[in-house]
Amino acid sequence: MQEIINKIKRLKKEKNAVVLAHCYQPVEIDLVADYVGDSLYLSQVAATTSAQIIVFAGVYFMAQTAKILSPDKKVLLPQIEAGCRMADMIDYRQMLEFKQRYPDIPVVCYVNSTAEVKSECDLCVTSSNAVKVVKSLGAEKILFVPDTYLGKWVEKQLGNVEIITYPGFCPTHLQIRPEDIKQARLKYPQALVLAHPECHLSVSDMADYVGSTAGIMNFVKESSEKAFIIATEQGVTDRLIRDYPDKKFYPVKNDIVCPNMKMTSLEDILHVLENESNEIIVDEQVSKKALSCIDKMLKVSV
Ligand code: 13P
Ligand code: SF4
Repeated sequence: MQEIINKIKRLKKEKNAVVLAHCYQPVEIDLVADYVGDSLYLSQVAATTSAQIIVFAGVYFMAQTAKILSPDKKVLLPQIEAGCRMADMIDYRQMLEFKQRYPDIPVVCYVNSTAEVKSECDLCVTSSNAVKVVKSLGAEKILFVPDTYLGKWVEKQLGNVEIITYPGFCPTHLQIRPEDIKQARLKYPQALVLAHPECHLSVSDMADYVGSTAGIMNFVKESSEKAFIIATEQGVTDRLIRDYPDKKFYPVKNDIVCPNMKMTSLEDILHVLENESNEIIVDEQVSKKALSCIDKMLKVSV
């Protein structure tokens, strides 16, 4: 493994490349990553990096978003098959139909969506900034795609915005059931429950804290508590165990894993860096339209 890591590091220097890794990636990917974080942080990095090549260790929509934000850079996705099952629940035609069903209402998309879908939206959000960004719109009613649970969770936080959601969801987070939270609390009664807002609302309602990947990690950093039940993808639990050896972390149940996020290997990263393969290309017109809603989000997020 060390040999592969050394080769990747050498190639990164030679080619002025950076590796961005989402926290759901296999934990060893961090050994070659320049930046590790959640969707918002990584899109901010992609927008501002001076590197010529961005290797995005994540899923397709993340690499696509990086390309939209940095069209002059070469963006490589180590595993071209690594899609997001939620993003794939709405395509361009379904997006147009949804808008036609509810005309004249602003449309907000979760960043977990395709460039074509984004090109038809007024504003983009990530799970880190969704409440703040939707609030900034000042609308009484919005359409939200594709994650119905994130949309409904935001509606609940704001209290004064009606959010009509598209029926998309994350199959990984929906594996977590209220029963799992109950069981975990019985087993670890002193632990706090931290959940991602992609979870079913009945699960989020039971958590002590609901937040994005970065939100959960920051919560642990700031908290004086010593034990946590983690209701999100396993990669977050793995990194917390690694980073806070004096605290205890319990995944809410086994196998809360996003299979697409786990496709990436160190070998794949080396391969795309050597060959500059799996380059992400986005149609210029689509890219320009999609950039507008992502840009608005980044302005509100700073
Ligand atoms: P965040 O990175 O915003 O927490 O989103 C989680 C996710 O599902 C990424 O696909
Ligand atoms: Fe998509 Fe869910 Fe995987 Fe995130 S965890 S990339 S939302 S399928």
